Amino acid sequence: MARIIAVTGKGGTGKTATSALLIRQLAKGNKVILAVDADPDTNLPETLGCDVSKTIGDIKEFMHSERDNLPPDTNKESVLKSKLYEIIEEMPKYDLLVMGRPEGAGCYCYVNNLLRGIMDKLVDNYDVLIIDAEAGLEHFSRRIFRRVDDLIVVTDGSRRGLRTAERIRELVDEMETDVSNIYVIANKVTETNREIIASTAKELGLELIGMIPVDEMLIRKDLAGEPLFDLPDDSAAVMEVERITAKLGL
Ligand SMILES: Nc1ncnc2c1ncn2[C@@H]1O[C@H](COP(=O)(O)OP(=O)(O)OP(=O)(O)O)[C@@H](O)[C@H]1O
Ligand SMILES: [Mg+2]
Repeated sequence: MARIIAVTGKGGTGKTATSALLIRQLAKGNKVILAVDADPDTNLPETLGCDVSKTIGDIKEFMHSERDNLPPDTNKESVLKSKLYEIIEEMPKYDLLVMGRPEGAGCYCYVNNLLRGIMDKLVDNYDVLIIDAEAGLEHFSRRIFRRVDDLIVVTDGSRRGLRTAERIRELVDEMETDVSNIYVIANKVTETNREIIASTAKELGLELIGMIPVDEMLIRKDLAGEPLFDLPDDSAAVMEVERITAKLGL
């Protein structure tokens, strides 16, 4: 069964950067990986250095509008399945799936139900899923993943950021998705806030699994519009993500 890891957190904390570096690290091994961009504001492909033209959103629109126009004997599940396989981008060391924009007006329950069934099976073709999720978790349960093994909450170095992580933990209890573990990664950590982050996390009972430092190499890559996937092994962020994947037993 695939291990499903979702990366969430407040806007701009570094969810996409963390997801890209987790994928970068895992791509060094032999695991079969599916990277999922579940943020409607699609950023992960660029961070990985991939070009993606079609998304799950496009397929949903197609199925939604064509539902009644398809010949009556059409197996809609197999149509949807073949469309889904068409949009999975196959990279040398991982596959990439982009959710795209949210659905338009109308009830998409029918399409979503079909999709959930197909995703359940698709997921089992992989060892690990890394999902770059959106900031809030509200939509997560309504989307296509029924379970998450590890929910990673990325926070910045502020006390408020850690409070958000605490709230997310509370939110998880109300979600329909099963979440087995919740971890926190503090990102953009400096020497000034390192200790206070660690002690605040402890005080709030959060399992801090890593502290990714502010990384000049990462900032330069980002400014140059180059994929973070291409960061060198001696980047401070890359090295910390390597430690984090080891802690996660990946
Ligand atoms: N460790 C780091 N050191 C320096 N800059 C970083 C670090 N991590 C992320 N950044 C920068 O912070 C900004 C936000 O990062 P990122 O896009 O990954 O956040 P996000 O949480 O995915 O944002 P959004 O909520 O918009 O999806 C980017 O410009 C990124 O380059
Ligand atoms: Mg993002």
